[in-house]
Amino acid sequence: MTPGLKGIKVINELNIKDKRVFLRLDLNVPLKDKQITDDTRIREALPTIKYCLENNAKLIIASHLGRPEGFDAKYSLEPVAERLSELLNIDVHLVEDPASETPLALLPGLKRNQVLMLENVRFIEGEQKNDDKFAKILSEYTDVYVNDAFGASHRAHSTIDALPRLVKEKGVGFLMQKEIEWLDKVLAGYESPYVVALGGSKVSDKIGVLDALVEKADIFIIGGAMAYTFLAAQKHSTGNSKVEKDRVTYAREFMRKLEVRNKTILLPVDHCVVNNFENPVDPTNIDSPSIPDGKVALDIGPKTAALYSHAISKAKTVFWNGPMGMFEKPPFEKGTFEVAKAVSLCKGMTIVGGGDSVSALNASGFAKGVSHISTGGGASLEYLQGDKLAGLEVFRARY
Ligand code: 3PG
Repeated sequence: MTPGLKGIKVINELNIKDKRVFLRLDLNVPLKDKQITDDTRIREALPTIKYCLENNAKLIIASHLGRPEGFDAKYSLEPVAERLSELLNIDVHLVEDPASETPLALLPGLKRNQVLMLENVRFIEGEQKNDDKFAKILSEYTDVYVNDAFGASHRAHSTIDALPRLVKEKGVGFLMQKEIEWLDKVLAGYESPYVVALGGSKVSDKIGVLDALVEKADIFIIGGAMAYTFLAAQKHSTGNSKVEKDRVTYAREFMRKLEVRNKTILLPVDHCVVNNFENPVDPTNIDSPSIPDGKVALDIGPKTAALYSHAISKAKTVFWNGPMGMFEKPPFEKGTFEVAKAVSLCKGMTIVGGGDSVSALNASGFAKGVSHISTGGGASLEYLQGDKLAGLEVFRARY
């Protein structure tokens, strides 16, 4: 049993009235040509932001975006600040240097419809090193620290870990509360048949969750590039599709584990392939699990999509993380969208996590029927596999 939010205060139990509130969010949204392609993470942060504004807090918002090594204009939070300003009809002032003392001077004069947003905290070298010096600067103007960045809460970074250690009044926001409550529901109250659908490019990213769920889940559905590693482990040819050679043995052993437990793994029985990954034109369907030499699979085929959808439709619990193919590029979205449809129509408890799956779900138009759409990818996987999240444990620590 996880301790969940035990011993941790939620924002409505904190005294934030008229206080300077440092709000760590995960506004790491997908961007294309500086345009936000999916604003779920911004929208999901709104209840906590609104609550702060209603309580007349002097609000400073912080987030990372992408994985820049120092300053890189490509990763500026400018489009995010603009979107937030539109959504709430407020003035969002972007503080260019997140390690400056500018907020100290600006916060007292902030009006009711104004908030500050620090530029991408990963522009500061110390952030990912959990540096105390960076945290110290931030703590100078933080009366109350609130973490509502569920998607980043598995990272022990300065704005997640070092900073709250320096602040007395602290807790989590409403999004963090919702995420943890839902994941606890899946951890404790899952019902059979429990289907876990995993996609994305790497088996290595999913080993923790595969191992953690081997006893709980009944059916494992594998899509995306990680499926080719499993097919290689079954000695199918995989053409030029991506295979993680150093994970083939793991995949074989995992399938053996399922076999002895009488559990099921579903792998692609057909594929949508092209000749060239760089120039993916003229897609064709291959009606076989084996992929011919010279071909690259970019999506599951229609028979596989039907097989996966059928299994999902019968489930009482579904956890889905990772797309089934290169869904960003039509026509390779079909398999992922079929799975999205099946998850949304499933009558059981359905949880979808991971930035790509959530974007795919929204793009497919089937987000509505899902019980919970998690804003966290790695964070939800780590939580489900029983790992402690730095962004929660810091509130329980005694120091
Ligand atoms: C995510 O997109 O999963 C979170 O924002 C965390 O990002 P990171 O994997 O770059 O730390």
